[in-house]
Amino acid sequence: MSNMPVFTSLDNCFCSSHRSPAECIPSIRLTPSPLQTQLLCNKFNLRQCAWLKPRRPKALRTVAASSASGKPTTPETTSKPPATLAVEIADVFFKSTHSARPSSHLRTGTKITVVGVGNVGMAIAQTILTQELTTELALVDIQADKLRGEMLDLQHAAAFLPRTKIVANTDYAVTAGSDICVITAGARQRDGESRLDLVERNLHLFKSIVPQLTKYSPDTILLVVSNPVDILTYIAWKLSGLPSNRVLGSGTNLDSSRFRSLIADHLDVNAQDVQAYIIGEHGDSSVALWSSISVGGVPVLSLLEKQQIPYEKETLETIHSAVINSAYEVIRLKGYTSWAIGYSAASLVKSIVRNQKRIHPVSVLAKGFHGIEDDVFLSLPAQLGTGGVLGVANIPLTGEETQRLNMSAKAIFGVQKQLGVV
Ligand SMILES: NC(=O)c1ccc[n+]([C@@H]2O[C@H](COP(=O)([O-])OP(=O)(O)OC[C@H]3O[C@@H](n4cnc5c(N)ncnc54)[C@H](O)[C@@H]3O)[C@@H](O)[C@H]2O)c1
Repeated sequence: MSNMPVFTSLDNCFCSSHRSPAECIPSIRLTPSPLQTQLLCNKFNLRQCAWLKPRRPKALRTVAASSASGKPTTPETTSKPPATLAVEIADVFFKSTHSARPSSHLRTGTKITVVGVGNVGMAIAQTILTQELTTELALVDIQADKLRGEMLDLQHAAAFLPRTKIVANTDYAVTAGSDICVITAGARQRDGESRLDLVERNLHLFKSIVPQLTKYSPDTILLVVSNPVDILTYIAWKLSGLPSNRVLGSGTNLDSSRFRSLIADHLDVNAQDVQAYIIGEHGDSSVALWSSISVGGVPVLSLLEKQQIPYEKETLETIHSAVINSAYEVIRLKGYTSWAIGYSAASLVKSIVRNQKRIHPVSVLAKGFHGIEDDVFLSLPAQLGTGGVLGVANIPLTGEETQRLNMSAKAIFGVQKQLGVV
C-alpha cells in the first residue's frame, strides 16, 4: 500500500496552468477517493491537465529525477507502484505530449439534469444523449428503483452513444454543478383533463424540487416542461430566486412545430421552410400568429390578400384547433406524449448549450411585452444562448392577436392569484 500513488488534498495539486484546483473545477472541494479521481480524470480529460495526477511518494520523485540525470538508482526506489488507477493505466496506453497545457480555463464539459424519469423525462434524456448535448447527465426521481433501472438501461447503451457520464440518485446532491436542469416531474395529464387542472397537484411537488436544484446549482438555467408549463415556470422562477432570463418553460415550442407541419401539409411544402409561431399559453388559449406566417420568406396571408385570393378564416382556425387537440389525441391513443416533447426540449437545450442564439417560442417572463402588465410566463419568440433567454423578438402583432395574448395572460394571472403564489 505504501507504494500506491498518494492523493493529497486537492489544495496541494501541482498543475502548472492553474493557480489552484478551484480555478480549474470550482465544484470540486473534497479530496477524491481513487474511484472518484478516476471518474474526474475521465470527465475532465486530465491526461492533458496534470493537477489530478497522483502525487508519488517523495522518494520516487527523487528517483525519477536522478534517472533522468543518468545517476544510478537503488532497486528499492525503482519499483513502480501498481497501475491501479485510470491515470496510471492511461499512461501505458497513451504517450503524453510533453508540453501539453489546457489551452485556456474554458470548461471542458456540460452537465444537464433531468428531474422526473417518466415518459417525458426519459424521452428528453435519450434525445439529449443521442444528440451529444452533454458530457454528464444526472437523473433524479422519487421512485428509486425506476430511477436506477433507467440509469442502468442508458448506461448499458454506452457503446452506442457518445461518451457521457450518466448518474442518478434520489438525492439532489447528484445534480451539483448542472448547467441546465430540466424539470419534467409531475402528475401526468389525464385523458380529458385540462392542463390548468393539473396545477395544484404540481405546485406542491415543485416546492420540493426547485430549491434543491438551486441549492446544488446556483447558476443553473431551469427549463420547465411539466404542465401547466406557464404557471409552473412562474412558480419555478419564484421558488428559485434566479433572474428571469435563467428560467424558461418549453411553452409553445412544440405547438409551433406541430403548427408548422400542418401548414406545410396544407400548402404542400417542407415544414422547415415554414416560419410560423404559436405564442401565449401552452394550452387551450394559445394564439396562432397568422399575420407573420411566411414560407420561404414570402408572407402568406398578405400575399393572398394582395393577389385577392380568397381564403376562409375557418380553415385557419381548423389548423390552430388541430394543433391544440393533437396532444389530447396522442394522450387518448397511447396514454401520454413523449417523443415530440423529447425532441422539442432537446432543441431548446441545444440552443442554450451551443449558444446558437436561435429563436424559439418559449415561456418567458412576459411582463412589459405587448401590453402585458402582470408577472406571468407566456410563450413569446425568444432568443436562446448560454445566458438562457437572451431577448424577445419584437414581432409585430395585429390588434386581435395582442388582445388574445392579453386574455391568455389575464387567465394565467387569475390562476396564480387563486393559488396564492402572486
Ligand atoms: N410542456 C409540454 O409540452 C409537455 C408535453 C408532454 C408532457 N408534459 C408534462 O410533463 C410531465 C411529465 O409527464 P410524463 O408523461 O413523463 O409523466 P410520468 O408520470 O410518466 O412521469 C413523471 C415522473 O415524475 C416523477 N416524480 C413525481 N414526483 C416527483 C418529485 N417530487 N421529484 C422527482 N420526481 C417526481 C414520477 O416518479 C415519474 O417518474 C407532466 O406534467 C406532463 O403534463 C409537458
